[in-house]
Amino acid sequence: MSTERKTVLVTGSGQGIGRGVALGLAERGWHVLVADIDEQRAKSVAAEVGGDAVAVDISSAESCRAAADQLSGVALDGLVNNAALFSTLAMKPFWEIDEAEWNRVLGVNLTGTWQLTKALLPALRRSGDASIVNVAASAVWIGRPNYAHYVASKAGLIGLTYVMSRELAGAGIRANAVTPGSVQTEIPRTTITAEQVRRQVEAQNVQRPATPGDLVGVVAFLLGSDSGFVSGQTVNVDGGLTVR
Ligand SMILES: NC(=O)c1ccc[n+]([C@@H]2O[C@H](COP(=O)([O-])OP(=O)(O)OC[C@H]3O[C@@H](n4cnc5c(N)ncnc54)[C@H](O)[C@@H]3O)[C@@H](O)[C@H]2O)c1
Repeated sequence: MSTERKTVLVTGSGQGIGRGVALGLAERGWHVLVADIDEQRAKSVAAEVGGDAVAVDISSAESCRAAADQLSGVALDGLVNNAALFSTLAMKPFWEIDEAEWNRVLGVNLTGTWQLTKALLPALRRSGDASIVNVAASAVWIGRPNYAHYVASKAGLIGLTYVMSRELAGAGIRANAVTPGSVQTEIPRTTITAEQVRRQVEAQNVQRPATPGDLVGVVAFLLGSDSGFVSGQTVNVDGGLTVR
């Protein structure tokens, strides 16, 4: 795996937002490493973007180390931590979430992101100019009900981003987060009804549903040198559903 182009690894890019971001970054000239727990989907998207597939379960330290071994010698200029348990989640009040489900969501969305970033640090350090983008959620700003494990994991990820930005400053590695609002992808989900989407769009400043393409420009900006003086920030990409 060697390339003249800048290299970015996008987790959870076998489908949905991750795939859209992988496609957009490839169009902008990045060599994209498509990382996903689902190896087949990773390979299929890697073929679409002309990149390479990395099979990894970010909730497993061993799997993260194996992925890092696969990248030994690679200089990783960008890391987009996008993988999460999201579209498969059922909504329920926090008192109905059992311990196993709580731990599963935190284990992927927060612990997994920490674990993979830790494993990939040598590859990020090899770049000399690396940037990390963590995909959180605007659900944090609205305290979206019936999603306590998910919202807690994403709030934790924002905190983790701030600490990463401080601890990696000396290594010249920047870390920022993005908080997307509700994004329509090719994956159907039961967590938002058509009526909820309609009401949400009405409440946004930009009155249309979001697609994965709406994340591409912001992620590309945060990865690239145009944001060279931006670190430890959260960029909200929810069409103005929330204003801050
Ligand atoms: N779609 C939205 O409305 C929305 C809104 C705000 C934030 N987000 C965030 O954006 C990201 C992508 O959302 P999406 O809608 O594409 O979700 P999705 O559920 O469709 O896709 C998640 C991807 O992550 C992968 N994944 C899951 N567990 C993994 C693991 N342990 N290791 C590696 N890969 C794993 C899945 O295989 C899948 O490809 C998530 O972090 C999500 O929380 C989504």
